[in-house]
Amino acid sequence: MASMSLMRDLGRARYAAAQGARVAWYMGQYLLARRISGPFDRPGEPKFEPQAAEGDTVRIRAAFLDLFARDRANIEAGLYPAPNDIRVTRAIEALRSSANFFRDLPKVDQRRLERSGTEVRAGANGEGRYPNYYLQNFHYQTGGWLSQDSAKLYDTQVEILFGGAADAMRRIALGSLARAIRGTDQRRIKLLDVASGNGRFLRQALAAFPRIPATGLDLSPAYCEEARKRLSDWPQVEIVTGAIEHAPFDDESFDAATCIYLFHELPPRVRRDAAREIGRILKPGANFVLADSIQTGDAADLDRMLEYFPVGFHEPYFTSYLKEDFVGLFAENGFEVEETELAFLTKVTRFRKR
Ligand SMILES: C[S@@+](CC[C@H](N)C(=O)[O-])C[C@H]1O[C@@H](n2cnc3c(N)ncnc32)[C@H](O)[C@@H]1O
Repeated sequence: MASMSLMRDLGRARYAAAQGARVAWYMGQYLLARRISGPFDRPGEPKFEPQAAEGDTVRIRAAFLDLFARDRANIEAGLYPAPNDIRVTRAIEALRSSANFFRDLPKVDQRRLERSGTEVRAGANGEGRYPNYYLQNFHYQTGGWLSQDSAKLYDTQVEILFGGAADAMRRIALGSLARAIRGTDQRRIKLLDVASGNGRFLRQALAAFPRIPATGLDLSPAYCEEARKRLSDWPQVEIVTGAIEHAPFDDESFDAATCIYLFHELPPRVRRDAAREIGRILKPGANFVLADSIQTGDAADLDRMLEYFPVGFHEPYFTSYLKEDFVGLFAENGFEVEETELAFLTKVTRFRKR
């Protein structure tokens, strides 16, 4: 009994040290990036002050700490293993990514100041291979979704933006999936990760369920290529390049699906097509975990911060996303809600297909 509580305390201390170091690393870079970037305010535009209201900073910090408390509780409940990303061998890689981030930052800042969010269109759509909405420099990032450099730099950019909380937010989605499927033979659960990007979430999922037959779908060949490299230790994983609104899969092919941070980047019309396709390709009874930004009213203290997201970053569909009724949208496609959880700036909803 005493040794169990000692183990638990040791695990907690290790978790706190690792996540504390991670947050300090990314938060430090965020503060430095803010310092060397141009001002958020442009003449004639509302002042960018997401944390201005009295008490907001305290509440934002509380939501941030609550995320890590939930993550640690999930680890202790055995839903997934503790992250293993703070290692001496990773230090060089982290320094290199940081250098690349700061080398790229002036270009990102320039786009932001000039509001030039469609640079990537020039030359990219010669063959009409991509829908127009996709050909944008989301977050003002260099190369949009279409370059290898972007696929490599993306994780660092996102972690810096969220002060080291992005992986923990994704893990809350994994926890929801794990609650639904644990106890089932993982080899029999065909999982699809929609908009799998460079494979970050699938890596987390495979650390918890190493034998699950997983498929990733993403529209970016560069991100798919990066994902294939990162997931090469799991031969049963397949990464497919394609658009979810024309999902290249048969009806009722998957037992579970996840979708992390896609829907806020889709125009309203495409959200409908994507939800319909997700309904088509999942089997009856399948679980679907949707994780994306919180929406207006989810955490009233954070609403102000959400409103300014599309001001500071290129997020052309974010304002309509904030009011989208996802429960209704997925209900139209045969899903009902099983559970919903807030994780700092992310909302995780698990649906079940009837
Ligand atoms: C914000 S990133 C999220 C990536 C990943 N899920 C994560 O958690 O890091 C959005 C991803 O969606 C992909 N994407 C955007 N529109 C898509 C579509 N219609 N079909 C498939 N993938 C799409 C992009 O290529 C990009 O990799």
